[in-house]
Amino acid sequence: MALPLVLLSHPLPPKWISALQGRVRLIVGPPDAPGFAPHLLELLGEAEGILCLLTDRVDQELLDQAPRLRVISNMAVGYDNIDVAACSRRRIPVGNTPGILTDATADLAMTLLLASARKIFSASTDARNGLWTTWSPMGWLGADLKDATLGIVGMGKIGKALADRARGFGLKLIYTDSRHQPDAGMRYGAEYRSLDELLAESDFISLHCPLTEETRGMINTAALKKMKPSAILINTARGPVVATDDLVQALSEGWIRAAALDVTDPEPLPEHHPLYDLPNCLVLPHVGSATEGTRRLMAEMACENLLAGIEKKRLPNLVNPEIYKS
Ligand code: GLV
Repeated sequence: MALPLVLLSHPLPPKWISALQGRVRLIVGPPDAPGFAPHLLELLGEAEGILCLLTDRVDQELLDQAPRLRVISNMAVGYDNIDVAACSRRRIPVGNTPGILTDATADLAMTLLLASARKIFSASTDARNGLWTTWSPMGWLGADLKDATLGIVGMGKIGKALADRARGFGLKLIYTDSRHQPDAGMRYGAEYRSLDELLAESDFISLHCPLTEETRGMINTAALKKMKPSAILINTARGPVVATDDLVQALSEGWIRAAALDVTDPEPLPEHHPLYDLPNCLVLPHVGSATEGTRRLMAEMACENLLAGIEKKRLPNLVNPEIYKS
């Protein structure tokens, strides 16, 4: 019997996806471009599974061409690239990779906080460029962490893991979330605030919310103007939570001190984008989960979800459990 056809949108190391060997027929897309390559789109009619990345849009139009599809496995915790409602209407299970990237992403948020507080990027560039002429009492002065306030927007797994790290640096913690979480206060020493209160009180603001219709553009001109002029914004969540043009203006005109972004809108940012030229903005190429161990675990979890769907079993990490309700 022919093996079920699975489209893997971009290559992954064979060791990471060894579970698929002999169980599916895999057709793989190219490494360097986002989205589904034309030769994969041509095979949608036969495909029974899709294993994709956060760069790949799965929408109604794509689903319409894939009548045999039994599972979509996204190798990411966030799944805003997938029209989940459209998948659910067709009872197609969608899998994601929660939990395993919590530490790596919280580590990166803390790294960005420290790097932007202490101007690591510009200080290092200046040193290389010969601007380090003497030990300068006023040179490269950064922000103090001890007793400063960190506002965490989204107190899910990653927000909590950041809280754990930040307490060790003496930061005071506040958070906002669609849910008040009494355990956040007790276990993480973080006090609940409304978003507006958090924006006004925080010295550092770190975003850890999913991208939804409510959070898209949440950090816009109005929000940026509520922040302290000394505030530093960190985004390791999703680029479109921040209105890019508004942030460029805020950083250029000094409404806030700095931003450190692992995610942007769009992704990647075009060459010569103003955010690259601003000395108070640090941009990384979406590497929150990019450690060897974490990415491998994500791929393995994505394979487990995929195989469960192919075998008509419940996905171990299922985004749309509503498909099983009658
Ligand atoms: C990374 O951004 C993810 O959602 O896994």
